[in-house]
Amino acid sequence: MLVLGIESSCDETGIALFDSDKGLLANELYSQIDIHREFGGVVPELASRDHIVKTVPLIKQCLKQTNLDLGNLDGVAYTAGPGLAGALMVGAAIGRSLAFSLGVPALAVHHMEGHLLAPMLAPPAPAFPFLALLVSGGHTQLVIAEKFGHYQIIGESVDDAAGEAFDKIAALLGLAYPGGPALAALATEGEADSFHFPRPMTDRPGLDFSFSGLKTAVANTWRDCGQRPEQKANIARAFEEAAVDTIRIKCQRALKQTQLKRLVLAGGVSANQRLRHAMQQLSKQRQIELFYPPAEFCTDNGAMIALAGCNRLMLGEWAEMQIQVKPRWPISELNETESI
Ligand code: KG4
Ligand code: ZN
Repeated sequence: MLVLGIESSCDETGIALFDSDKGLLANELYSQIDIHREFGGVVPELASRDHIVKTVPLIKQCLKQTNLDLGNLDGVAYTAGPGLAGALMVGAAIGRSLAFSLGVPALAVHHMEGHLLAPMLAPPAPAFPFLALLVSGGHTQLVIAEKFGHYQIIGESVDDAAGEAFDKIAALLGLAYPGGPALAALATEGEADSFHFPRPMTDRPGLDFSFSGLKTAVANTWRDCGQRPEQKANIARAFEEAAVDTIRIKCQRALKQTQLKRLVLAGGVSANQRLRHAMQQLSKQRQIELFYPPAEFCTDNGAMIALAGCNRLMLGEWAEMQIQVKPRWPISELNETESI
């Protein structure tokens, strides 16, 4: 089965072709970073307008690269949520109408299910069941993935997501948007133990996260040290260590609680080297298998949507005729047969 995947939930237009037998055939990404940079964050209206401009040309590009045409498609999968309503509407409208015009099924994909399955785009693919740590710009969640389509959230952030915290601290330190990767790069130049920040919510039981207090602690320290440029890298390092350590402690607890033997990292923050290293240590210590996607599939992309869509289309699922999106859509609402 050949499936076209369309990702447009935020500031990246991702288009891919995934074949159930041959795997990923094409994967194109257009990032809107240059458009949003001057505003220091994603401007939803500008994001929607740009997805309108980029989606169809990228679909044509994927088909051209693979010497395929629209008639070869067996299904179209698009991100239907969670995300920015207008941005989601662009991908959903194009995807749903294209499928209708071709007489093939369409599938509304959950963006976080896409992230969760992204490690399966490159070998070795994790087998179910596993514990997933979803860490992106919008989510920080610990999820039991019992089998395909069955997900239980056992911990999540009560305020900022991990990626959001990276981006906000980066902005505070004057780094360009999107700050997560820039902050991580700066942290490699920082000296260990120059500063120490709290590991929020690790001193009490439970698997939930909170990053807003950590953000305040960093802001106060930055102010108190007179915002001296020579302290920037040290602060970045201490923040990254605190964030990663917090996530490690919660993952360790979740593994102990669930007794699961596989851990999957996914979402933009799973590209973070310090986080990967901490998780490698944890996996050795607990003798569990660790999986994370190649860097290009950590952040938003069309390949993960095409893969998730293909799996569901193969189970006989399809989206209704209405063009519908769900800007808020907990992953735990999914099950094997439900679609929107
Ligand atoms: O998954 P993603 O592309 O989009 C969402 O679904 O939110 O994640 C983007 C987030 C941003 O907050 C970005 O700063 C963060 O992932 N990110 C990183 C790194 N690469 C991306 N954070 C820390 N270290 C990185 N290397
Ligand atoms: Zn994402």
